[in-house]
Amino acid sequence: MFYFGADYYPEHWPEERWDRDARLMAEAGFNVVRLAEFAWSKMEPREGQYDFQWLDRAISVLASHGIQVVLGTPSASPPPWLMAKSAELFLVREDGRRATFGNRREYCPNNPLYHDYTRRIVAQMAGHYADHPAVIGWQIDNELGGRCYCPICASSFQAWLQRRYGSLDELNERWGTVFWSHAYTDWDQIPLPLTTGGSPNPGLALDFHRFASDSYVAYQQMQIDILRQKCPGHFITHNFMGFRYDQINYFDLAQNLDFVAWDNYQRTEWGMRAEVDPGHAALAQDTMRGLKHQNFWVMEQQAGQSGWGTVSVAPRPGELRLWAYQAIAHGADAILFFRWRTARFGTEEYWHGLLDHDGNTSRRYQEIKRMGAEMREVSERICGATVKSSVAMVLSYESRFAFQIQQNNPQFSYPSHFYQIYRSLHQRQTLVDIVAPTDDLSPYRLVVAPALHVLPKVAADNLERFVRAGGLLVVTPRTGVKDEANSVVNRRLPGLLAELCGTEVEEYDSLPAEVSNQLKFTLPELASAPPASARVWCDVLRPTSATVVARYTQDYYAGKPAITRNQVGRGQVMYVGTMGDAPLYQTLARWLLHSVGVQPVVNAPEGIEVTERWRQNSQLLFLLNHTEQEQEIALNGRYVDLLDGSAPLEGTVLVAPWDVLVLMETRPH
Ligand code: GLA
Ligand code: ZN
Repeated sequence: MFYFGADYYPEHWPEERWDRDARLMAEAGFNVVRLAEFAWSKMEPREGQYDFQWLDRAISVLASHGIQVVLGTPSASPPPWLMAKSAELFLVREDGRRATFGNRREYCPNNPLYHDYTRRIVAQMAGHYADHPAVIGWQIDNELGGRCYCPICASSFQAWLQRRYGSLDELNERWGTVFWSHAYTDWDQIPLPLTTGGSPNPGLALDFHRFASDSYVAYQQMQIDILRQKCPGHFITHNFMGFRYDQINYFDLAQNLDFVAWDNYQRTEWGMRAEVDPGHAALAQDTMRGLKHQNFWVMEQQAGQSGWGTVSVAPRPGELRLWAYQAIAHGADAILFFRWRTARFGTEEYWHGLLDHDGNTSRRYQEIKRMGAEMREVSERICGATVKSSVAMVLSYESRFAFQIQQNNPQFSYPSHFYQIYRSLHQRQTLVDIVAPTDDLSPYRLVVAPALHVLPKVAADNLERFVRAGGLLVVTPRTGVKDEANSVVNRRLPGLLAELCGTEVEEYDSLPAEVSNQLKFTLPELASAPPASARVWCDVLRPTSATVVARYTQDYYAGKPAITRNQVGRGQVMYVGTMGDAPLYQTLARWLLHSVGVQPVVNAPEGIEVTERWRQNSQLLFLLNHTEQEQEIALNGRYVDLLDGSAPLEGTVLVAPWDVLVLMETRPH
């Protein structure tokens, strides 16, 4: 069943209003709401006094209009009576200062007292709602994250290290604590990487980032265990933060959930730009689908202008619906808009919902109501249909953490580098799967692993297996530099991949922002490629068995190889030794996709996004117009338009500004 709905806070509005809200929801085609994820102080107003009556009444009003319920566990915003119990409940930031009450997410994820109170409220909610006919599942907490540097975390970290290394000798060896006289003789001497300690040992810092991530995974698991035991009929998920969030290993966090859900905002007050680059949301959707290699939910889909202190650009007419379809086009099986009605009070007064502050419907509500009517027609065809891709990009949270500790170059950003490559594929209408370094790569023809900095042997072996089976692998600078303890490997770079790449990094240059180096393609098939340049980082390569694809033309390494390609059996490995500019990645994307025989589904003009979902042999085609102009697209086959149910389409179709077409092929493959 496809779920379509909103995030709703009945506790913010008079009870007399609830029925009207539920009616407007039903009229918009909604069949689900998420409730209660910030309502701890309403559900447990005083310690041990639980009150679910108001929530029961809200749920029964909703249920009477055919709306089902996802309940959020409320641990992201604890009540004042709980936080007043002990200063230790509060998270300590990197600079050693403790958070104070007044926002949310202020708790320490390892505090035993916080665990106790979490367990109690979750068990109470689970017990109360286990058999409720309108409740279908759970969202744990809200957007888990934030690293805590408190003394409790310090001792949990020490215990975590003890489990990881077994002995201090081992830890001292792996971290290289002989440097600056850091050899530890007792576990409790090991500090946290507080900013007051200056630049920490990279091994310690990476392990702390791993530990902080594990802390949330464990805190979530504690809640999962309670819910699994008490509510076996319900699903359990969490609302993730897309590609952007970088402090939790999302592959780990997703592992024991039934599916991933996430929060999708494309115009926010923090990024005030007239134009929206749809590639960012596309990458986020693909990442969310990749965490479990399955379809996902959007638990919070933008419903209007966002804003805390300032107000974002208003979503243009059609954008809200377009963005929701974009999520569906990438594998979403549910969309809930955040939020139903714009709050009149609290930090998020300007984070607009589908209804205005005064409770009236808006242009936004009408737009989504139209979508609701469409979903009634098409959602059953869409739900469960899968996205298939023959191209993958490897996302390594460990490498991402390592670059947070040592940036390598002030212009370098792992997520931006990753995105730049993703974008060149996405612009060619290529669907990309985002995978973990040890995921099965056999479904793919092309795998790009950007800056795989921390490279465990198992990951290197996995990539090698892919290449030996005939795949095309692309790696970029700073790959294979670090071992798992975040020490530099004792080998020629790219370390464990040097042999597979058939090339070695002879030396490297780190460039200032104003300097670039022109590249010259030496392969005949790339001779007519537009000029491309090297930026940020230049690996000077010395091929051992690879052929040269491009050379630097400037500086003391003019004429030296910058990009190489190595044939390994039926497979190939490209080493792209620089961060490059957009034309470089566009040229490479065109060439690589062509050489593995991956064709765009449909050739579409810029600003048009095309994706497919499949059910058995039946194809659904999504054509999304992210521009202000009407666009013309030439189809390859014969289709029916599922949204307007018109006569079969063939040849050229027009897509209106910010509009979407959902087409189904009339003759299955
Ligand atoms: C996040 C949260 C929501 C809300 C919105 C808007 O995604 O999950 O609770 O705060 O942002 O700020
Ligand atoms: Zn802590």
